[in-house]
Amino acid sequence: MIVGVLGHGTLGRSIETGLRHHPDVREILTSTSHRGDNADLARRSDVVFLCVKPFQVEAVLRGVAAELRPTTLLVSNAASVPSASVARWSGERVPVVRAMPNMPVRVGEGMTVLCAGPNATPAHLELARSLFAPLGRTATLDERLMDAATGISGCGPAYAYLMIEALSDAGVKLGLARDVARLLVAQTMLGAAKMVLTSDEHPAALKDQVTTPAGCTIDGLMELEDGKLRHTLLRAAVAAAERSRRLVLPAD
Ligand SMILES: NC(=O)c1ccc[n+]([C@@H]2O[C@H](COP(=O)([O-])OP(=O)(O)OC[C@H]3O[C@@H](n4cnc5c(N)ncnc54)[C@H](OP(=O)(O)O)[C@@H]3O)[C@@H](O)[C@H]2O)c1
Repeated sequence: MIVGVLGHGTLGRSIETGLRHHPDVREILTSTSHRGDNADLARRSDVVFLCVKPFQVEAVLRGVAAELRPTTLLVSNAASVPSASVARWSGERVPVVRAMPNMPVRVGEGMTVLCAGPNATPAHLELARSLFAPLGRTATLDERLMDAATGISGCGPAYAYLMIEALSDAGVKLGLARDVARLLVAQTMLGAAKMVLTSDEHPAALKDQVTTPAGCTIDGLMELEDGKLRHTLLRAAVAAAERSRRLVLPAD
């Protein structure tokens, strides 16, 4: 099939890179506001991944609506934009799936949440899921939970990068070379996440296994509790989800 990536910025490039070796993808077309041709992409693609900023979605879709074939699957990746709006702006003819991927789709470790929008059958949803599947993990949710997913997994890599940066700084403070500190922190995050994903144990139980009585880990944990890390992370994700829930206007 031919896949079009309309909007070739941070996310569009990540999706394009991830799809390059997909066995079902014969060709990938891309366009930006400076390069490529949106109308040609819309005409030729079997699946269009819409990867422009939320406030650009309406104008871009109205610009290509007449070119989309009724069989073309439109996968909107724009945060905040309901699938009903995507359907309306694209002429109500094409099946719409709304997706919330995250940046690590670029390295095959993304988390993509999907929901069916107007005109989308279970087969359309499955097609979108199968395209994202080699790019990481996928989950299907009800559309009312898409903003929650945005606050957790869509924005989540930024939270993780911040924590990696801060812990790397700590390593430097403790005398480690910057690259060594970064390796230690990133691999620790990766390993910890893998244990959560591959075991049935609650993260708190895994934490307990690292925490020797009167050992050093409990001192570190005490500082994190004192700094209200738990509460701060919770508030961060809720704030991001709330922001996603609010309508994004062109003036934003
Ligand atoms: N970044 C993420 O990790 C992430 C995760 C989940 C969802 N998303 C969603 O993905 C969308 C894109 O985010 P982003 O971070 O990738 O933004 P971005 O880096 O700014 O990329 C936006 C892209 O859209 C292009 N574009 C703008 N106007 C266009 C037009 N009229 N026709 C064709 N292309 C046009 C831009 O081209 P020019 O540069 O030439 O203007 C650019 O390539 C957003 O809706 C966001 O909510 C992003």
